[in-house]
Amino acid sequence: MITLGIESSCDETAIGIVSEGKHLIVNNILSSMNLHALYGGVVPEIAARSHIEAIILLIESSLSDAKLTWNEIDSINVTNGAGLSGSLLIGVMTAKTLALTLQKPLYSINHVMSHVFANFLTSTSLSGYKMPSKPPRFPFLAIIVSGGHSQLVIFRDYLDYEVLGKTLDDAIGEAFDKVAKMLGLKYPGGVEVSKLALKGNKNAFSFPVAKVNGYDFSFSGLKTAVLRQAQKIIGEDYQFPSIKLSERLSESQKADLAASFEYWAIETIIRKVKLAILEYNPKNIVVAGGVAANFELRSRLSSLASNIEFPDPKLCTDNGAMVATLGYYLASNSAPSANPLTLNINPNLKM
Ligand code: KG4
Ligand code: ZN
Repeated sequence: MITLGIESSCDETAIGIVSEGKHLIVNNILSSMNLHALYGGVVPEIAARSHIEAIILLIESSLSDAKLTWNEIDSINVTNGAGLSGSLLIGVMTAKTLALTLQKPLYSINHVMSHVFANFLTSTSLSGYKMPSKPPRFPFLAIIVSGGHSQLVIFRDYLDYEVLGKTLDDAIGEAFDKVAKMLGLKYPGGVEVSKLALKGNKNAFSFPVAKVNGYDFSFSGLKTAVLRQAQKIIGEDYQFPSIKLSERLSESQKADLAASFEYWAIETIIRKVKLAILEYNPKNIVVAGGVAANFELRSRLSSLASNIEFPDPKLCTDNGAMVATLGYYLASNSAPSANPLTLNINPNLKM
């Protein structure tokens, strides 16, 4: 079974083609990130317009890269939430039209859940990919860390899962992005903070880990603690505007703030993961979402548990391959397909 995935929930137009839910054939991504960098964050109207310009061409070039025709595609899978309304609409309208005209089954895909399914991809003939050696075994613990979500989920089977906890305020990726702005780093900030952190001292500042019950997280206090520390370093009080901080901080002060922030943000996740391992004894642990590309998170999780493998970073940030993969498991587990006449977007879709 060959599945095609369409992802357009935010600023990436992405098409993936996957065989049997495990072999990656194509993972094409066009990002409008450069257009948003000027504004320091994603501008929804610009993102939607970019999807319109890119999506048909990207689908055509993906089929051609895969050396496949529509006859060989068994299902069309599309992210219908969560995400930006205008962005989601472009992917969903495209997928509905294709499903209707080509008479293919259509599956609606939950964006956050699809991030987890990137972990089922274990082989590819594409160059430059490092894939896990085997798919995760059930029950597994999924650590979902992205720009919009931070949650811990136990998967007992492909479609049988329980959300153990989630962030009560900011997502961890959002906290990375906000700290990046404070430090004057370019958008998108997460990867820039982690690069700068390599030059800093993670013990320079001891930031608090919010005390939250159960498996929930909180990152907004940590973000404010970084702001207060930066204001203190330059001898200003809490009224000093965060956008002016970076001009007054030295490179080494910025690097120390980045490294300490990164350490404590990841510590927040690690503490809850330790609890979940004790309580649920998962056979495997997987990481999903943009922050799963973070080197420090990967290295600390690897020293915590041996039963963990990581998807290639190109399969951690938004992509169509994860959408195609989840589509395969929906079909093979008899989940109902979507009606191409009535499928709608759901910008607030939860797992
Ligand atoms: O999953 P994703 O591509 O989009 C959402 O669904 O949110 O995640 C994007 C998030 C952004 O907040 C970005 O700053 C963060 O992932 N990110 C990172 C790294 N790479 C991307 N955060 C920390 N370290 C990284 N290396
Ligand atoms: Zn995402």
